[in-house]
Amino acid sequence: MPASPRELDAPAAASARAGANFALIKYWGKRDVALNLPDVGSISLTLEALHTETTVRFDPTLAADELVLDGEPAPERAPRISTFLDVVRERAGVRAFARVETANNFPTAAGLASSASGFAALTVAAAAALEQDWDERTLSELARIGSGSAARSIFGGFVEMKRGRYRTGSDSVAKPIADARHWPLQVAVAITTRAEKAVGSTEGMQRTAETSPFYRAWVENQENDLAEARDAIANKDFEHLAEVSEGSALAMHGLAMSARPGLLYFNATTMECLHRIRALRADGVPVFFTVDAGPQVKAICESVALPTVRDALRDVDGVLDVVESGLGPGAALYAP
Ligand code: PMV
Repeated sequence: MPASPRELDAPAAASARAGANFALIKYWGKRDVALNLPDVGSISLTLEALHTETTVRFDPTLAADELVLDGEPAPERAPRISTFLDVVRERAGVRAFARVETANNFPTAAGLASSASGFAALTVAAAAALEQDWDERTLSELARIGSGSAARSIFGGFVEMKRGRYRTGSDSVAKPIADARHWPLQVAVAITTRAEKAVGSTEGMQRTAETSPFYRAWVENQENDLAEARDAIANKDFEHLAEVSEGSALAMHGLAMSARPGLLYFNATTMECLHRIRALRADGVPVFFTVDAGPQVKAICESVALPTVRDALRDVDGVLDVVESGLGPGAALYAP
């Protein structure tokens, strides 16, 4: 029998910052929805310039969890945070509601993965506030329960998320492959709309797994893509990483399009950016693209190419803004 939860005598708070991440080898499909266990592994980059800062304060006088997002109360998003905090409270053996104040320095839910940096920052802050010295593997496992891709934002640089085999999910965790200094790639994100995405990733993944005739083939091929990407990263082989990453992004979107009803995350500007990036690479500019469950385009390039890539994307009709970032560190505490 687990011991009954400990009450807090006084409020306990901590603050953490985590970078957004996006995958080069895509995660699409869950083997367990409640625990966010992926059906495929993935490989991602953690970004420096796009991040979430979160302060959590467990307070014995609160009657419920509270959420403040970008300075505004966000009760409609609080249930997801509460469900996640229940998992943290149970592991820590503590009973107290919390006030969570979180802010992104980029638009929330427009395909820039705010849930990844958000749950990674919340996990690290909550663990510190409750004085739990969980290792990074445990933090990654917990962050995954908040959002699958959040497991990766615990780490910086190049990160691999393992599919895992256990039903508990204890082996579905991320681990660092190489830090940002190993290969300081740059990213230019073309913002093609500020609207929130039409179909969220969980619903999109479920629909795809249930209805696409190609889902098994996607899952079976993933190990090949992961192995190729690991090699390309270890050898800093840009051409090879470009090929396997664009292949994974297009396969994910092709798969999503093959669901019933098909999922269309691209808009016309998205497509225009992909052509522009392909044309640059054909001209010898070291750049490639990826796209997540939304219409923004992420262009990954060698640092020398960043000005060319930024200008080319700015020049595409329909591109509202281009946000730049290098690779950044893993989630960490900070003093607000
Ligand atoms: O963690 P989620 O549920 O936001 O899913 C992320 C899915 C993609 O962004 C499309 C791919 C990925 O690997 O990040």
